[in-house]
Amino acid sequence: MTILRTALELKERVGGWHDQHIRIGLIPTMGFLHQGHLSLVDHIRTHCDKIIVSIFVNPKQFAPNEDLARYPRDFQRDEGLLAERGVDAIFYPTIDIMYPDGYCTYVEVEELGKVLCGQSRPDHFRGVTTVVAKLFNLTKCDIAAFGQKDYQQSHIISKMVKDLNIDLKLLICPIVREADGLAMSSRNIYLNPEERKNALYLHRAIRKARTLFENGVRDAQQLSQEMHREIGQTSGIKIDYLEIVDAETLQPVGIIDKKVVATGAIFVGKTRLIDNEILNP
Ligand code: PAF
Repeated sequence: MTILRTALELKERVGGWHDQHIRIGLIPTMGFLHQGHLSLVDHIRTHCDKIIVSIFVNPKQFAPNEDLARYPRDFQRDEGLLAERGVDAIFYPTIDIMYPDGYCTYVEVEELGKVLCGQSRPDHFRGVTTVVAKLFNLTKCDIAAFGQKDYQQSHIISKMVKDLNIDLKLLICPIVREADGLAMSSRNIYLNPEERKNALYLHRAIRKARTLFENGVRDAQQLSQEMHREIGQTSGIKIDYLEIVDAETLQPVGIIDKKVVATGAIFVGKTRLIDNEILNP
């Protein structure tokens, strides 16, 4: 497994692969890898010949009051996990490589980035799409994998790919959960034992919506109320949003007659967690 640190090193490596018609798969990450990330490696493997994992904590997707400085990092551990999993290359650039002095170009998917997480994190998705577009260009990948846990993120990236005619396939892979249901996330490391217990409320609320849906309830407002009721006034939890939205437009729906997403974000202490499930009538 090779570690590529500059755009030039990456270009030379992928250029060689392209010349040999080798199909390149990319998994963009911010590192501090967990089983969710590693499952993306397993999913993408059957679709490509070489796998690149990028590790870059992208400052452009963090607001000044967010956790950029303390975002967990452990490159050595990540490197070991990826080597064991049979990854071919890690792209591990510095901020200067990705955003040299004078950098001023951004990619924004307008409407979809303003709702749900975009309401409390206004510039977040603009930062995500900008870095992901750059990673697509740099790696010249044929396929890229993302996790469904960040449903809104993967949906916005699909829209960017479509709108900008980017010639690659996206693979959106299932959420990987801890045994008790908590969606895996690098940010789970922030949770103390009490918060770790409280973190389960998010998935419980979303499961509640799923159970009611499976029992025939199609009134989205009722499902959303039940999700809120499940968390109630639990001390230590602040609800950011809990909603049933159209899976395409990400707008709230009335009666569920097409694919929707039961989705939510909560703060457990200072840690913001997200989760979702697709409900398909
Ligand atoms: O999901 C993430 O880890 C990040 O948002 C991504 C896609 C790597 C872009 O920085």
